[in-house]
Amino acid sequence: MDKLVIRGGNPLQGTLPVSGSKNTALALMSAALLTREPVILRHIPDLKDIRTFCRVMEVTGTEVAFDTGAHTLRIDAGPLNRSEAPYELVKRMRASFYMLGALLGRTGQARVSLPGGCAWGPRPVDLHIQGMKALGAEISLDKGYVVARAPLGRLKGGDFTLSPSSVGATINFLLAAVTAAGPSRLHGAATEPDVIEFCQMLTAMGAHIEGIGTRTLMISGVDALGGVSFDNCPDRIELGTFMIAAAIAGRPGEPVTLSHARPEHLGQVFLQAFEQTGSRVKVDGSTLEVIPPHRLTPVSISTDIYPGFPTDLQAQWTILLACADGNAKVLETIYHDRFKHIPELRRMGINAVVVGNEVVVEGGNPIEGAAVMSTDLRASVSLVLAGMVARGETHVLRIYHLDRGYEGLETKLAAAGIDVRRERYDEWADPS
Ligand code: EPZ
Repeated sequence: MDKLVIRGGNPLQGTLPVSGSKNTALALMSAALLTREPVILRHIPDLKDIRTFCRVMEVTGTEVAFDTGAHTLRIDAGPLNRSEAPYELVKRMRASFYMLGALLGRTGQARVSLPGGCAWGPRPVDLHIQGMKALGAEISLDKGYVVARAPLGRLKGGDFTLSPSSVGATINFLLAAVTAAGPSRLHGAATEPDVIEFCQMLTAMGAHIEGIGTRTLMISGVDALGGVSFDNCPDRIELGTFMIAAAIAGRPGEPVTLSHARPEHLGQVFLQAFEQTGSRVKVDGSTLEVIPPHRLTPVSISTDIYPGFPTDLQAQWTILLACADGNAKVLETIYHDRFKHIPELRRMGINAVVVGNEVVVEGGNPIEGAAVMSTDLRASVSLVLAGMVARGETHVLRIYHLDRGYEGLETKLAAAGIDVRRERYDEWADPS
């Protein structure tokens, strides 16, 4: 098993490149199953979740070629002949549940394992299933699998309202609706950039979708979709993570450059909160400069759906608050108890206390290096951020969580001045 060993105190300087978006890539990949023609996707990050999804797709007979050096995926679903997504793979990554909509949309049937929960609690898929039923699918559960079929071999289309708004359920509904025999309407659709980029790819493949970017999508089903070459967008959550890294570990007044950035994908709420900390941001095309302040002003945030503050940045924001002078709060409104990182941060001397679905952070305490445990993707990167500004050495354990969503993180940070290395370790070795 791997860990990252970080010796804190080095200033972050130079340039951090942002990789392609993990969450957008997973949606774009599922769209490729809807056509018999080859699809080329560029700027695909080399991540565990992407490789897992490649294998999920290959189970169906789809041919997948991932040129990790060129970050390009070639997907040919022409040979697709098996409408199944097995538990052994789906349990590793929840987004595999997109196979439900993709296989129903392509073949009129699907047998997809229910995803498990995750570190921070249940992740229901009831809205996904209800959406398929609204499109005319017959659904049953069989030994942990969702078994779905279109009675006439093709879904008929229908109307559905999402409550709460759900990124995944929006994507699954669209996957099934774009080739349905009739019109569909989705109210309460998610408007995250992932969804907008996904709709643009479907449109380029010949789908008819109106209202892209709004909460109401109107879809006119088509008989077939064509192949496409499509560029994935930069990862907005990695961008936000790097902005926070620059604010806490950069030299005051000296810019840290983030390349391949699309800051508008972060939404105004995050960008305004970030500048309220005293950090300055300069944007020049796809290059963003962060100028850290001499002291960080604590800014309380509350997560929300887009364009609200992204829930995937709340753990990272906690570290910024720990480095700020004063107290502030982080309110999580999307998930229950997405705070598994807090006990680990407290071991580093950070004074953060969970009260209900809120973390109260008292900034300014000295942060001490320690051995800490990753529990999920965004929690693990918050431990890395803390290690960068801690006194002494921090060992971030179980970084397979990190490898799911951050491409070559230690390489990028080391190239920007951080003292960090990857080491193998034996989780069960007795202390020496
Ligand atoms: C996507 O997950 C992202 N994952 C998550 O990022 C992100 O945290 C989340 O959206 C919210 O922005 C991918 O895109 C692969 P949801 P998703 O359905 O689609 C409730 C990361 O770190 N809900 O928008 O699974 C759910 O419980 C990951 O990259 C239902 O009640 O999230 C939650 O409270 C973590 N029933 C809310 O909706 C359902 O059927 C939002 O979840 C589905 C969701």
